[in-house]
Amino acid sequence: MSAEAVFVRTWTVGGGDFPYQAVLTAYRRWGKALVPDGLLDALCEARSQATGTLLSFLDVLLDKRDGTYDYRSYLALPLLTPHFPDRDTLTVLLVADLMRFELAACDDPAGPLPVMPPDDALVQKRLRHGLRVIRPALDRLGWAMPDTDARTVWEMVDSKMSDDQRLMLRCSILPVDVVHDEYLFIRVLQTFETSFAALVRDLESAAGALTAGNAAAAEEALHHAAALLREVSPMWSVVATMRVEAFRRFRQWTEGASAIQSRHYKLMESLARRPDPARLGSAAYENVPEVQALVMTGLPSVDEAYGTARLTLAEHAAVGAAMADFAASVDAWRRTHYRLATRMLGNDTGGTGYTNGTSYLAQAREIPVFK
Ligand code: HEM
Repeated sequence: MSAEAVFVRTWTVGGGDFPYQAVLTAYRRWGKALVPDGLLDALCEARSQATGTLLSFLDVLLDKRDGTYDYRSYLALPLLTPHFPDRDTLTVLLVADLMRFELAACDDPAGPLPVMPPDDALVQKRLRHGLRVIRPALDRLGWAMPDTDARTVWEMVDSKMSDDQRLMLRCSILPVDVVHDEYLFIRVLQTFETSFAALVRDLESAAGALTAGNAAAAEEALHHAAALLREVSPMWSVVATMRVEAFRRFRQWTEGASAIQSRHYKLMESLARRPDPARLGSAAYENVPEVQALVMTGLPSVDEAYGTARLTLAEHAAVGAAMADFAASVDAWRRTHYRLATRMLGNDTGGTGYTNGTSYLAQAREIPVFK
């Protein structure tokens, strides 16, 4: 039996502190897809004693064994969800940790996930784009520093983190393989998810404000959503630095985990405008049955609320312009995603969500955000 399986069994029998570090080190050594059965058995036994965050962590660790592996478990979303309401802090934590990992690979290329380490120039590029994403959030949090560089940002973030945040950050990165760039891929997806969750809150308040006849609040929420989506967009430049060969290598283990399963993305889409019946009945929504059910039972959308709100002409125009601003930010997001996906997939047109991949995205890209 491996040392980490022994640590886990000792915890199951005797309690005390769960051996997080030993388990995480083991997962990084093999990649989630190839963790040996002995450790998986020990983790299954431990689960019967676990509650709270530890239980969520074990569920995420055991997703491949349980047959529950999907986008949510790949990104460890159950561990991130409690932190979503504080979008700026979570964004800074995720990106700062990504930059820390890149810097660590420069210092020690044989460290965790040693396959295809990046060279210095590539790391510098990643750090530059990462810093662009978090600068506005650092300002709003009052954490901005003169001469912000990635290393000092990480040191500052590290000194401010609560125990809860530290545990979430350590446990929420569980690559399926041992390729360096998968770390980046996971953190990029998680950062976008964090912003989608914030956009959902904005669209909910925009729809609510319109229903209450408060045009100014709706306008503000829509511009805020558009600004946030643009602010996080340099993450596309980060993920575009992923080496295609690295992506294709770990992708062999990610079948079944696709962002088509992102609840926040589909909630965002349907809070903007009720999806047409064909889309609602397609794989796009079959992959998010909770959202599909919500829409079917009548999720209030901004589009509908705008159509029925009693607004002055000036208010009508101002809210219309804010809607156009949000729609433009979503269209730009979709176009960039499509370009990246076609480059990464090449001739391999299928998606990990079992769609016809890039042609699915080409169609989805044309869907109007509002009527
Ligand atoms: C290497 C990079 C990427 C590739 C090759 C890629 C590819 C794809 C493909 C083929 C789909 C169609 C569904 C499927 O069968 O899987 C899809 C959907 C989607 N992807 Fe990506 N993707 C990439 C990066 C990202 C990133 C970084 C995000 C950010 C969250 C993202 C978000 C989404 C969303 C939200 C959908 C669902 C779109 C819809 O249903 O209309 N993707 N992606």
